[in-house]
Amino acid sequence: MASSRRVAIVTGSNKGIGFAIVRGLCKLFDGDVYLTARDENRGRKALADLKKEGLNPLFHQLDISDPTSIQNLGDFLQKQYGGLDLLVNNAAHAYKMDSPAPFAEQAVVTLKVNFWDTLAVCEALFPLLRTHARVVNMSSMGSTMAYRGCSDAIKHRIKDPNITMDQIKDLMREFELAAKADQVEERGFRKSAYGTSKIGVRVMSFIQQRELAKDTQRPDVIVNSCCPGYVATDMTSHKGTKTIDEGAVTPLYLALLPPNVVSPKGEFVSEKTVQHWPS
Ligand SMILES: NC(=O)c1ccc[n+]([C@@H]2O[C@H](COP(=O)([O-])OP(=O)(O)OC[C@H]3O[C@@H](n4cnc5c(N)ncnc54)[C@H](OP(=O)(O)O)[C@@H]3O)[C@@H](O)[C@H]2O)c1
Repeated sequence: MASSRRVAIVTGSNKGIGFAIVRGLCKLFDGDVYLTARDENRGRKALADLKKEGLNPLFHQLDISDPTSIQNLGDFLQKQYGGLDLLVNNAAHAYKMDSPAPFAEQAVVTLKVNFWDTLAVCEALFPLLRTHARVVNMSSMGSTMAYRGCSDAIKHRIKDPNITMDQIKDLMREFELAAKADQVEERGFRKSAYGTSKIGVRVMSFIQQRELAKDTQRPDVIVNSCCPGYVATDMTSHKGTKTIDEGAVTPLYLALLPPNVVSPKGEFVSEKTVQHWPS
């Protein structure tokens, strides 16, 4: 019989900002908090580190690039909890600036993890979200920078308040095809695989909120995306100016939005403040 306890999942939380989000949730979230990792050993080591701090997270394996792994987590949540109350989509990939990998490869791999695999997690787990559930999708201010470099036609599509999930998927595919054809700028995009993937995450979140708001069976489910700031992690080669706990502040704020809050909903948030696409 499923427990009625509230439950939170943080993807890619064996290190970096995800790890600090789990740490914060262990202190602030009223329910079970799952640290997840694609590699069980790295995940269990991180779990042990938090337990040494007197915290009590739980562990579940999750590789967002593996549909079976996602399905296993969904089945587990259904069986053990009968639902899901908080999902933080934190796992992501970024190539280093000096990576020798061809840009086309960088575009495909980066969009796969950051956009397509994150979307796959949402598609599998959203049916489990309960009334008052919160979803936080990690985007980046890099999305704003990538947006600034796009043509007016692409900007118009990104900003369209009626954009559909099929349309943002089409835009992501267009970027991949442009990268393969070595025509990214000619076709109206900025040459940033990471920034474009985070445009996808930001727009995806906006659409998800708009659609979930129509679900009268599950009121007050809220999706937002955010930027954690420039954080010292492996992703930034530890050049970021914030600690991981400082980077966790805005995602934790969104994760813990009180019941029936009016705003933010479907927004992109940085430093706890709603940010709009530049005009
Ligand atoms: N750091 C910044 O300044 C900054 C700025 C803006 C936005 N962000 C965003 O904040 C989030 C966290 O970034 P971070 O700096 O903490 O990065 P990080 O230190 O590189 O950590 C990334 C985490 O994602 C996991 N991951 C990658 N691919 C995965 C997959 N397929 N399945 C499951 N987990 C996977 C990694 O696991 P492994 O250990 O197994 O690789 C790791 O736990 C990301 O979404 C990032 O884009 C970061």
